[in-house]
Amino acid sequence: MNNFEYYNPVKIIFGKDQIQQLSKLIPSTSKVMIIYGGGSIKENGVYEQVKKSLNDHFMIEFGGIEPNPRYETSMKAVELARENQIDFLLAVGGGSVIDATKFIAAAIPFQRGEPWTILSEKKSVKSAISFGTVLTLPATGSEMNSGSVITKEDSKEKFAFSSPFTFPQFSILDPSVASTLPKRQVANGIVDAFSHVVEQYMTYKVNAPLQDRLAESILKTLIEEGPKAYKDPADYDAMANLMWCATMALNGLIRTGVPVDWATHGIGHELTALHEIDHARTLAIVLPGVWRVLKDEKKDKLVQYAERIWGINEGSDSEKIDQAINSTESFFESLGIKTKMKDYNVGSDTIDAIIERFENRGWTALGDRQLADLPTIRNILNLQL
Ligand code: NZQ
Ligand code: ZN
Repeated sequence: MNNFEYYNPVKIIFGKDQIQQLSKLIPSTSKVMIIYGGGSIKENGVYEQVKKSLNDHFMIEFGGIEPNPRYETSMKAVELARENQIDFLLAVGGGSVIDATKFIAAAIPFQRGEPWTILSEKKSVKSAISFGTVLTLPATGSEMNSGSVITKEDSKEKFAFSSPFTFPQFSILDPSVASTLPKRQVANGIVDAFSHVVEQYMTYKVNAPLQDRLAESILKTLIEEGPKAYKDPADYDAMANLMWCATMALNGLIRTGVPVDWATHGIGHELTALHEIDHARTLAIVLPGVWRVLKDEKKDKLVQYAERIWGINEGSDSEKIDQAINSTESFFESLGIKTKMKDYNVGSDTIDAIIERFENRGWTALGDRQLADLPTIRNILNLQL
C-alpha cells in the first residue's frame, strides 16, 4: 500500500426532513447568500424549505448558475457577495451549483490578480469564506470534497481546482429532494459515480485489498440500486443508496494508498467544453476506450473487475476483460447513455482539436503512470468515434 494522508472535515446530515437543520448549522449572526441554478429548487419546494429554515437570518440570493458552471456568472455572484459583505454561502443544487459556490467562496477574498488564474494557472487558494450545501442531485461527490470544475465561456476551457479551504462545512443530503430529477440526470449521476470509483481502482495492484473491496462494494451497489432509482426517482430507498454511493465515490476514502487514473475525466472535460455534452456522458464515451487501449497495462485489475463485479469466470484473461468492458458499456446503455462520439454528432475533427489543446497546454500525458500520452489519447478517441 502507498503512503497517504486522509483529511475530510465535511459534516454530513443525511435523511428526510433534514433541511430544517439549516437554522442551527449556520450561525445566526452570519450574512448568508443562497446560490442556486436554473430554478428547479423553486419548482420542487426545496427553496421554500431553505427559506423557512433561514427565516431569522440575514439572507440574499443568487440564482442562475448553469450546468457546467461558468466563470463569468460566478464572478457576478462574487461581486454581489462583496457588495453585501456576505460571510456565508449556501449552495442549493447539484454539482454545478456546489462547484460554483466553492469557486465563489475562494474568489471573494482573492486579491492576487484575476480569480480565473486559480483555475488556469493553479494559483493557490489561501482563504475562502465558509459555505454549506443542500444537495439535490446525487452524482459528483462535490458535497463532500474540496474540488470544483469551472468553465470559461469565452475560451471554452473547463478547468478544475481544489484546496483545503474549499471543503463544505456541512452538506445536507435528503434523498427525497432528488425525486423530481429527470431520468437523464439520475442516469448521469449513476455513471459519474461509477466512473469516479473505477478511476481510483482501475490501475495496478498495490496490495490494498480493503480499498479494492470498498471500491467494488460501491460499484456493486450502483449496479443494483442505480437502475431502481433511474426507473423511479421517487423510490426513496433506492435514491438514498444512490446518493450515499455517489458521495462515497469521491470523498477521498477509496483513493487512500492506491494509484489513481483520471485520464477519462481529463479527456471528458474537453468534450463538454467543446460540445456541452453532459459530464457523465463524456465519461461513458471515454472510459471504455481507455480500458480497451490500455488493456495490457491494466490487465490485473481489469481481470479482478471482470470476476468480482460482473461474475465473469470463464475464458482467458483477455476474453474476461473484453466481456467486462462490454458489460460496462451495456450497463451505461441500459440507462439511456450512449457510448460513442457519433451518438452525440461529434466527429474526428474534435479529436484533432483535443490533441491540439493538450499540446498547447503542455499536457503531454495523463493518468496512471502517465500511460495516456497524446498518441494513446488519439487511439482511445478513435476507438470511440
Ligand atoms: O439548475 P437547476 O434548475 O437546479 O437544474 C439542474 C440542472 O439542470 C437539475 N437538477 C438538479 N437537482 C434537481 C434538478 N432537477 C430537478 N430536481 C432536482 N432535485 O439537474 C441539472 C444538472 O445539474 P448539475 O448540477 O449540472 O449536475 P451534476 O450534479 O451532474 O454536476 C455536473 C458538474 O459537476 C462537475 C462536472 O464537471 C459538471 O460541471 N463535477 C464536479 C466534481 C467535483 N466537484 O468533485 C467531480 C465531477 O467529476 C464533475 O467533474
Ligand atoms: Zn465526474
